[in-house]
Amino acid sequence: KKPAGAPDKALARKVTKVGVVGAGLMASQMALLFARRLEVPVVLTDLDQARLDKGVGYVHAEIDKLLGKGRVSGDQANRLKALVTGSLTKDAFADADFVIEAVFEDLKVKQKVFAEVEEVVSAECVLATNTSSLPLTEMASSLRHPERVVGFHFFNPVAVMPLLEIIRGAETDDATLATAFSVGRSLKKSSVLVKDAPAFVVNRLLTRFMGEVIGAVDEGTPLEVADHALDGLGLPMTPFTLLQLVGPAVALHVAETMHAAFPARYGVSDNLARLVAAGKPGVYAPDFSLDAEAVALFSGGTS
Ligand code: 3HC
Repeated sequence: KKPAGAPDKALARKVTKVGVVGAGLMASQMALLFARRLEVPVVLTDLDQARLDKGVGYVHAEIDKLLGKGRVSGDQANRLKALVTGSLTKDAFADADFVIEAVFEDLKVKQKVFAEVEEVVSAECVLATNTSSLPLTEMASSLRHPERVVGFHFFNPVAVMPLLEIIRGAETDDATLATAFSVGRSLKKSSVLVKDAPAFVVNRLLTRFMGEVIGAVDEGTPLEVADHALDGLGLPMTPFTLLQLVGPAVALHVAETMHAAFPARYGVSDNLARLVAAGKPGVYAPDFSLDAEAVALFSGGTS
């Protein structure tokens, strides 16, 4: 079924090579998915060799897991590994048709990345962003071809979450959008088309959901009680497990974006900010026991 608002399929351009800017967790998960589903070369770039090696290493390790589960054959695993490479320069994107960025959530950083990519790619190459909440139209505004910028927002874990939020900026043209939908179909995702707006649609809701649970803790409900209050509703994971999956820094960033846009409706929790400042990955330890230090930070250092 054609997603609401999707342009005519015939306008879609063929994608024969993908560039991924960034080699962090979202970027490497995306690189694997592109290689696996589109079966085209995928080049990751990052600032230094260590980050690149980590990103490509993650992809190779995930391919080995797929091989172990019998989801791909030995030949397929080798082919997939060969498709995903790392490069320190964006020149490697010269013949890419679709470049997606998943770098640090800062508008200026993303604008700079797109300006650099635009120097090396063709005028028709799609520039996609996996931003969680930053304004797409502003990200595109100083480019020579803002019409080829589109939001392509994945959800964590990228391999398993079916949803893909496709965002149309003020200048995004139909060919770009049709290409984005066509790639989404090849990736076997369920795409929804949304308008450019603070945090688009999905993170508005998720931020509200997370914000209310965090708010209950801010107001004195013990964290472990608030985190398990919804267990009987059958959600796939508890709110603080979800916070861990998303990453407290990303969650805080989205909350700040929403607060700036709608101050009366979205707050920014001091407890969450304290957790982020301490560099904690969440309130749970790797074995999913509660990290007492993180819980204390989250309770204003008082529990
Ligand atoms: N990477 C790759 N695969 C993963 C994975 C990961 N991080 N985590 C789980 N999986 C795979 C498992 O390998 C398993 O695959 P298999 O069937 O091939 O063996 C499958 O997912 C199911 O995993 P499990 O049986 O271990 O666990 P669950 O049934 O509990 O499912 C879950 C795990 C799919 C993550 C589920 O808990 C869930 O849906 N959680 C909610 C996640 C969510 O809401 N994400 C959105 C976050 S918001 C976001 O990303 C937006 C951003 O902008 C903030």
